Amino acid sequence: MSNLLVIGTQWGDEGKGKIVDFLAPAFEIIARYQGGHNAGHTVYLAGKKIVLHLIPSGILHPDKICVIGNGLVVSPQAFFKEINDLKALGVEVNEKRLVVSRAAQVIMPYHSLVEKINEALRGQKMIGTTCRGIGPCYEDKAARWGIRVADLLEPEILKEKIEDNLAAKNKIFEAFGYAPLKAEPIFEEYRELGEKLAPFVRDVSVFLHEQIKAGKSILFEGAQGALLDIDHGTYPYVTSSNSTAGGVCTGLGLSPKQVHSVLGIAKAYTTRVGSGPFPTELKDETGALIARKGDEFGATTGRPRRCGWFDAVAVRYACRVNGVDLMALTKPDVLEGLKEIKACFAYRYKGSRLTEFPAEPWILEKIEPEYRTFPVWSKSIHRLRNLEELPLGFLDYLHWLEDTLEIKVALISTGVDREDIICLKEEMQKILGERASWLF
Ligand code: IMP
Repeated sequence: MSNLLVIGTQWGDEGKGKIVDFLAPAFEIIARYQGGHNAGHTVYLAGKKIVLHLIPSGILHPDKICVIGNGLVVSPQAFFKEINDLKALGVEVNEKRLVVSRAAQVIMPYHSLVEKINEALRGQKMIGTTCRGIGPCYEDKAARWGIRVADLLEPEILKEKIEDNLAAKNKIFEAFGYAPLKAEPIFEEYRELGEKLAPFVRDVSVFLHEQIKAGKSILFEGAQGALLDIDHGTYPYVTSSNSTAGGVCTGLGLSPKQVHSVLGIAKAYTTRVGSGPFPTELKDETGALIARKGDEFGATTGRPRRCGWFDAVAVRYACRVNGVDLMALTKPDVLEGLKEIKACFAYRYKGSRLTEFPAEPWILEKIEPEYRTFPVWSKSIHRLRNLEELPLGFLDYLHWLEDTLEIKVALISTGVDREDIICLKEEMQKILGERASWLF
């Protein structure tokens, strides 16, 4: 048995969807443990672009079971829309291969209105959220106002909870000039959604423990990235869940002993959507070129992503917090065509050198990155599939990354298709054992 966590080591959008899709054949179950439909996991299948927001990327493999854990916030509307979109693409989705936790929180219509008010109140200091109601739903969870999936299945309880919520929230809406929301239509809509959702709903912790007992392996699919984690990210410019490794246990009802290894995903440069500090950001033509070549537009909101150089200080921090065993490097081919490539290895702050990542925005906003510069490799690596074909210039850059992070790169993504990947078999064998051979 070898359960693996796939986790983003930057501010999200590292290419986790593609890596999960590649690794899925080695597992029976793919489980998400946090976030919601703020995520956008892009997978290209036979040249077709598929963006998954809430359902784990493993769903594209017909023999896999996908799990939505209690740590998620679930929009039932987004859930059914995604199922319909997948069905339109010929992907069979049913309750035999998709499981939703009874204890997951439900995103309600008032959450997006609360989010709108919150962001407006922040003014210039807005977080730049995805406006999916994610933050306010997690706020309600912590404030003990939350409505859980199991509540949708009990009409009387659901009705009471909606009324209680609106009694409190309507006071806020009215104070901000919005019309109060009526409980009845929301109750009717969500009662019906609950009926539709019921076949998918299970006790996920019990389900996963049974599967583990039966010798099945789980691929844990992290959403967002380590630097967006509510505790370990660049607070307050973060999402509202624990995207880091600890979230797996709380978000699925598993023990830390059931996470056997961790694969960190990093893009060969850095991107960020929304507000917040970004030490290696390029606000010049080079940044714009990376954005164009890398098609750096938010998979969920379509917003342009801010682009910058690879930041090894930040990625090293993410590797420590998550206990990363091996790395996957994505999109290095995007850097081809630039005059030179830079990667940050340390920060200068108030005259001294920082090699540990300070998560505080007011420090990050003032630091000066120290860069190592690399020439662009002579031969394109785009769509290469064998290690032996990689040019020396790229290998120099890759080995520098490995030495700086003190972690080996086991996967190199060289294009958007499932097959555009270089896989270091011996390294993958170290974490997956004989299951690694299921990938080749
Ligand atoms: P929220 O998760 O919608 O509350 O947004 C909080 C912050 O996290 C914003 O800066 C978003 O742009 C960012 N964010 C949320 N989900 C993702 C993602 O999947 N990729 C990249 N950024 C994200």
